[in-house]
Order: sequence, then structure tokens, then C-alpha cells
Amino acid sequence: MERIGIIGTGNMGEAIIRALLETGFEKERIGFSEISKLKSKYIKEKYSIKEYALLKELTDFSKYLVIAVKPQDAKDVLKNLTSHIRDKHVILSIMAGVSISAILSIIGQGTKVIRAMPNLCVKVREGVIGICRNEIVGDDEFEYVKKLFSGMGMVVEIKEELFDAITAFAGSGPAFFLFFLEGMIDAGVKLGFSRQITLEMAEKILSGTLTLLKSEATHPSILKERITSPGGTTIAGLTELEDRAVKGAVIKAFEVACRRSKELSQ
Ligand SMILES: NC(=O)c1ccc[n+]([C@@H]2O[C@H](COP(=O)([O-])OP(=O)(O)OC[C@H]3O[C@@H](n4cnc5c(N)ncnc54)[C@H](OP(=O)(O)O)[C@@H]3O)[C@@H](O)[C@H]2O)c1
Repeated sequence: MERIGIIGTGNMGEAIIRALLETGFEKERIGFSEISKLKSKYIKEKYSIKEYALLKELTDFSKYLVIAVKPQDAKDVLKNLTSHIRDKHVILSIMAGVSISAILSIIGQGTKVIRAMPNLCVKVREGVIGICRNEIVGDDEFEYVKKLFSGMGMVVEIKEELFDAITAFAGSGPAFFLFFLEGMIDAGVKLGFSRQITLEMAEKILSGTLTLLKSEATHPSILKERITSPGGTTIAGLTELEDRAVKGAVIKAFEVACRRSKELSQ
């Protein structure tokens, strides 16, 4: 087992630490650096992992260095890391909108860099994680990192040019899904159910539908057709959704999110 240093232990840094520990990664092999005294105290107390106040010590300790700070802090962190990086190191960046070439332009061209884009669901180890590397990262190193991330969800190897797309699809997808859920809850209330029971029913309808889809190993359209009887209630509701071009709006929402991700990366 290799050693991993995590720089920045906010939402994502902590989610990674928790997933590593839950999948059996030894805590002695995880080190971290965190600028916020409050957060570092919390991480030490909660996970009993070692904090390295100096980046030099953290880089000496680690082979893989996870950069989990906000994109606006990237420059500072990478600049401070530069003189400590050796051939053995692999930088593993999860920063949204920071390209491999932007990282290399600060840290030096000969550095091994893996870029990953996890979504928030890694918190419950049900995430989707897009991942790519530069050409000097070894196959064994890349496979090792993919295996690590697989403990946090589904790992999808993609070309770097698709990072804005995965940011929109996996990153914003849960919010769009929740928007639909919100609509369902309001609908339930309008139909006369209490808000609490409506929430519980809506969650069950969605999770039950996904479980059914998986267990029948079929396509959503086919399952939908099975629920839609001629002249019945479902076709009446679906017609309304089609009339209002809801599917087109969903596609557009992802497209717009992808465009926004591109704008923010520039
Ligand atoms: N949240 C998501 O759903 C999500 C999804 C995909 C990717 N990401 C990416 O993951 C990264 C982290 O996001 P997050 O939501 O976890 O942010 P966050 O909660 O703000 O965590 C970042 C942590 O890094 C600390 N920090 C800042 N500068 C530092 C330094 N020089 N050395 C050590 N620690 C430092 C921050 O401290 P202060 O708060 O005191 O500045 C903060 O505790 C971002 O780049 C984001 O683009 C996030």
C-alpha cells in the first residue's frame, strides 16, 4: 500500500479520507495538510490521521498528493509544492476547472498528474468520478488510483476534453434530479398528501424505480412503456410533459451547465 497526502480537508478532502478508511486503507498511510486550524483539529480528532504542518514533510511522506483545495487556492499550493516534488510523486488533482496543463505550468512539465472530477455523492461512496492522466503517469500508478477511487463510487476514464461535460453531468446531475424530486413533492402536496409522507413516498418511488430498472436489466424507455397503458393515467401525464418539452429542457440544462463549466475554467 502506498502513502497518500491530502492537501485541503474540506468537503471533498474529508470525503476522500473517510472513503479510504472505510475501504480498509490504513490510517498510518494517510497524511494531511490543512490551513484552517479548526478543520485540522476536527480531522485529527475524528480520523486519528497525522497532520503535516510543512508541505516538505507531507511530500516526503507521500507518493500520491491529493490537491483538494478550492481552484482559487491552486496557484499558492502548487507553487509551494514545486521544490519538494520528486520523480516518485503523482499529483492527484480534484480541483474543478484546473487543467493538467495549468498544473504543469506551475509545478513543472515533468510532473506526473492525474486529474479527477468526483461528484458530491462520493460522501456516501456512491459517486461518479471522471479521471484522466498525463502521459508520464505509469499504468500501474493510474490503475492504483482508479482502484482507490472505486471505493468512492463509479470511476469513468475519460479524455480531458470531456471534463466540463462530466462536471455538468455528474456534478450538476444530482441537483437537477433533486429539482425533479422537489416538483414531485409539491405535486403530492397538491394532490392532498402531507409534506412528510409525500417526501417519503417520492424517495421510495425513485429508488424503487431504479432498483426495478437494474433488476430487469432493461432500458428506461422499455420500462416506461410497460407502465403506460393505452388511454390510461400515465400516458395522460406523459403527454403533458411532452407538450411542455420537459425532455428538451433537461437536455438544455446539462448543455448550459457544461458551457458554464467551460467559461469558469478559462
Ligand atoms: N464540493 C464538491 O461537490 C466538489 C466536486 C468536485 C470537485 N470539487 C473540487 O474539490 C476541491 C475542494 O472542494 P471543497 O468543496 O472540498 O472545498 P472546501 O470545503 O473549501 O475545502 C478546501 C479546504 O482546503 C483548505 N485550504 C485552502 N488553502 C490551503 C492550503 N494552502 N493548504 C492546505 N489547506 C488549504 C481550506 O481552508 P479554508 O476554508 O480556511 O480556506 C478548506 O478547508 C475544489 O477545488 C473543488 O473544485 C468539489
